[in-house]
Amino acid sequence: MPAEPRKTVLITGASSGLGEEMARQLAARGHDLALCARRLDRLETLKADLESRHPGQRFEIRALDVNDDDAVFEVFAAFKADFGTIDRVVVNAGLGKGAPLGTGRYDANKQTAVTNFVAALAQTEAAMQIFREQDAGHLVMISSMSAMRGMPKTATTYAATKAGVAHLAEGLRAELMDSPIRISVIYPGYIRSEMNEKVKNAPFMVPTEKGVRAMVEAIEKEKPRAHVPAWPWVPVGAAMKHLPLPVVRRLLG
Ligand SMILES: NC(=O)c1ccc[n+]([C@@H]2O[C@H](COP(=O)([O-])OP(=O)(O)OC[C@H]3O[C@@H](n4cnc5c(N)ncnc54)[C@H](OP(=O)(O)O)[C@@H]3O)[C@@H](O)[C@H]2O)c1
Repeated sequence: MPAEPRKTVLITGASSGLGEEMARQLAARGHDLALCARRLDRLETLKADLESRHPGQRFEIRALDVNDDDAVFEVFAAFKADFGTIDRVVVNAGLGKGAPLGTGRYDANKQTAVTNFVAALAQTEAAMQIFREQDAGHLVMISSMSAMRGMPKTATTYAATKAGVAHLAEGLRAELMDSPIRISVIYPGYIRSEMNEKVKNAPFMVPTEKGVRAMVEAIEKEKPRAHVPAWPWVPVGAAMKHLPLPVVRRLLG
């Protein structure tokens, strides 16, 4: 169970997909929200909607490109100044570009590596600075089921970044086990969002609202690690982790 109520939640990548739906569901559970992404127009529409549904709560928005290191620290500090404390940070902003290595698309693979890992590191640094000052806080890192094993083709770089994110979270958890600061890593399976709107045959794909409900339940319980939705991803995750690579490769297409 959570050590204390987490009133204010900061979510990066809140302008679409899982981030936007997490904002909606966490608002419905009574949280105040600090929301950021590059598309400010989307955040303005979301803020207006949240304010009309939850008039007693506070919602602040800021434009942020997570690849701008200085801006990450500035925006997180500005949200902290708005609310007094930031109780939880969800490191969610990410992208799913990628190409098989050595096929001339280093640009796409590098963009994925920088946004999903280097920028996640910047967000984690900025969040942990706040949490260490407060001696309290809950860091939530959005990894992926693809972090379980090395992935072929277009997913190779993406999966490596998501394994990196999960290891950042686990390293922090090892360091902070005896502290009031909590660390969670969430491994979503396929959940419908802008990232995969053109993907037709992803296995076990669930609608955004259903997938995010499982994410939010795990986050609110402050689970150290959660594969979501639990069915089928807990057993599939165990299989992916332990089966021989030729079998995993066939499973994943
Ligand atoms: N959907 C799935 O099946 C699935 C599965 C496993 C993990 N995930 C992870 O879940 C997270 C959310 O993805 P999603 O599926 O919701 O995709 P999405 O709908 O494409 O949303 C991605 C979000 O990240 C933001 N973002 C991307 N680049 C950014 C940048 N440079 N600076 C700031 N924000 C940036 C986008 O906002 P702007 O474009 O407005 O900046 C958007 O709000 C990602 O980390 C993804 O890897 C998704």
